[in-house]
Amino acid sequence: MKGVILAGGLGTRLYPLTHVTNKHLLPVYDRPMIFYPIQTLVKAGITEVLLVTSGPHVGHFLGVLKNGKELGLTHLEYAYQEKPDGGIADALSLAQDFADGENITVILGDNTTDADISNEVSNFDKGALVFLKKVEDPKRFGVAVFDKEDPTKVIAIEEKPKQPKSDMAVTGLYIYDSSVFKYINETKPSNRGELEITDVNNAYVEKGKLRWAELNGFWSDAGTFQSLFESNSYWFNKLKSEK
Ligand code: G1P
Repeated sequence: MKGVILAGGLGTRLYPLTHVTNKHLLPVYDRPMIFYPIQTLVKAGITEVLLVTSGPHVGHFLGVLKNGKELGLTHLEYAYQEKPDGGIADALSLAQDFADGENITVILGDNTTDADISNEVSNFDKGALVFLKKVEDPKRFGVAVFDKEDPTKVIAIEEKPKQPKSDMAVTGLYIYDSSVFKYINETKPSNRGELEITDVNNAYVEKGKLRWAELNGFWSDAGTFQSLFESNSYWFNKLKSEK
C-alpha cells in the first residue's frame, strides 16, 4: 500500500509560530511534527509516500526530509497544492497519479499517534475505512453518527457539529480505494470554502462502503495551541522514558 501525507495549509490558528515555517515542521518534543505521521506509516509497512504541501514555506520540507531514506522511506514524492486553503479533499486530489489506481492510506500531517494500524492496512480490500477515537471535545472534529438500531454502523459524519451525536471523532487517518478521486470530483466547496474530507467520507457512507475501526493508543492533532501543547507533553513523557 502507498501512503499520502497531507501537510499543507497556512496554519493560521498557530500564528505567529507559522509565520516562520510550515505548521508540520514545528517541534513536537525532539523532532518535527511531520516525523510522527511518517513513522506511523513506516510502522504499518508503508514506505512509498507522497507528501502534499502548500503555502509560503514549502521549500523547508525538502531540507528536513530530503529523500526520506533516513526515516525509513523507500520513495518520497512531493506535490504542491496551489490553494493552501483549498481543504483536505483538494489536497488529496493531487494524489491521483501517485495512487495509480491502487488503495492508499492517508494521514494528516499534524496527527500524531502511537497506534499500530498495520492490521487495518494489510486487511483493507475496498471502500473506505476511517479511524475513530473517543474524545472529550467532539465539536472540534468530524463526528460519527451511529445507527440507533445497529450502534456499530456509521450512518453519517458531521463536520464540527454544534450538537455532536456521539463522542467518536473522525481522526485524520483514512484508507481509501481508488474511487476516492471520483468522489472528490463530485464534492462542492463547503461554507468555509474548502473541499471537505467529511463530504468525501459521506459519499462512501451513502454507497454503504464506509467502515470504521477504533484507533487504539494516543492520538492528537496539533492544529491549535492547546492540542500542540498536549502533543508535546505526551511525546515528551513517552519518548524521554525510552531514551
Ligand atoms: C480535519 C477534518 C476533521 C477531522 C480533523 C482531525 O479538521 O476536517 O473531520 O476530525 O481534521 O484532525 P481540521 O483540522 O481541518 O479543522
